[in-house]
Amino acid sequence: MHIRLENFHMVASALAVLSVALLARLANGLSESSSSSSSDHTTTVGRFPFLMPKVIPYKPELYLCTPVKVDDTKSYYIVGFEPNATMATAHHMLLYGCGAPGSQSAVWNCGEMAKSDDVKEETGSPCGAGSSSQIIYAWARDAPKLELQDGVGFKVGLDSPIKYIVLQVHYANIDKFKDGTTSDDSGIFLHYTLKQMNKRAGVLLLGTGGSIPPHQVEYMETVCNISENKTIHPFAYRTHTHSLGRVVSGYQIKIDEQGQNHWTRLGKRDPLTPQMFYPVESTAPIRRGDRLAARCTMESNRSTVTNIGATNNDEMCNFYLMYYVENDEPLQMKYCFSSGPPYFYWTNKDTELNNIPDYDASHL
Ligand SMILES: *[C@@H]1O[C@H](CO)[C@@H](O)[C@H](O)[C@H]1NC(C)=O
Ligand SMILES: *[C@@H]1O[C@H](CO)[C@@H](O)[C@H](O)[C@H]1NC(C)=O
Ligand SMILES: *[C@@H]1O[C@H](CO)[C@@H](O)[C@H](O)[C@H]1NC(C)=O
Ligand SMILES: *[C@@H]1O[C@H](CO)[C@@H](O)[C@H](O)[C@H]1NC(C)=O
Repeated sequence: MHIRLENFHMVASALAVLSVALLARLANGLSESSSSSSSDHTTTVGRFPFLMPKVIPYKPELYLCTPVKVDDTKSYYIVGFEPNATMATAHHMLLYGCGAPGSQSAVWNCGEMAKSDDVKEETGSPCGAGSSSQIIYAWARDAPKLELQDGVGFKVGLDSPIKYIVLQVHYANIDKFKDGTTSDDSGIFLHYTLKQMNKRAGVLLLGTGGSIPPHQVEYMETVCNISENKTIHPFAYRTHTHSLGRVVSGYQIKIDEQGQNHWTRLGKRDPLTPQMFYPVESTAPIRRGDRLAARCTMESNRSTVTNIGATNNDEMCNFYLMYYVENDEPLQMKYCFSSGPPYFYWTNKDTELNNIPDYDASHL
């Protein structure tokens, strides 16, 4: 049974304006009003509007961040993400799970490429320097909402490194805000519950640095080892590039006793289709000793070099893998990045990769 409380909305927007909202307040409201309906068979799901507090993006390519502090006296499980945005305004949105926020402000400029040309503005990262940082959700290109399967949730709050959730919105085109009165409340409705979920969700982000030469097809590749003693159940993946991406693919690699690599595809897509989380093609468990790999096939007809970077004129190569771990915490490893071309390729000797699915990885 799903219960929605109308007053969440008001409380949330009021708190958002006051800067740091507290999921706690909302959850207390939730348990008071729903105590009569709670039973083992009922998961009460709250809906927390985590939206930009009516901001006016004042320049193109702006990245804005806003935080929510999670009550750290209880564990909450996020079980769904309902976007409230359109690609006409928001180029992409990311949710970061942080140990501390990147700023004490209600809203701050958190562009990775934030310039110091405007001394008045506060710039920073989504998460505080030195605090834990992980991506828990990503949205772009009008992706629809994501509901996790039964029993799976992202644990936040008590005994989770996620003490704050930070919403980052990348505003690419700001024409509709030029009049100075139109404001924006893009964001995500978080579906959450206090009921313990034994399947703890996590996201591993595979990606690269590097650059793409002019008039060329380039492969941006990464690989990493799973060294933690956990059984990882992948269930969804998402690809992200800017305009030069043609194919993004991700693989699980099992290594047999002879050192032969057995590649199993987790997902493959044209990254210019809606960049939502899709079900993985293989849910085979990933264990210690396995490796994970991703490739972005990029095609540039530009006359200049394109670098990895934050703006729409730069590129990105990302393969997100969403998974759960049963009765255990998600991986400590949150990122799997390589330096990318021209430095890193799967074929580099020191990767010790073999049976590389060269054709499969680059063709839809
Ligand atoms: C967000 O949701 C509110 C209603 O809950 C709606 O009025 C608003 O237009 C939405 N904003 C965007 C950017 O979709
Ligand atoms: C990953 O595993 C391979 C093969 O087992 C090994 O040669 C390599 O050193 C490992 N890399 C890291 C960073 O642990
Ligand atoms: C790995 O985890 C399993 C299950 O939790 C445990 O039984 C085993 O002892 C662990 N192995 C090592 C080497 O830690
Ligand atoms: C890039 O150029 C190639 C060869 O001229 C052409 O086939 C391809 O369609 C072009 N791609 C784009 C995205 O314009």
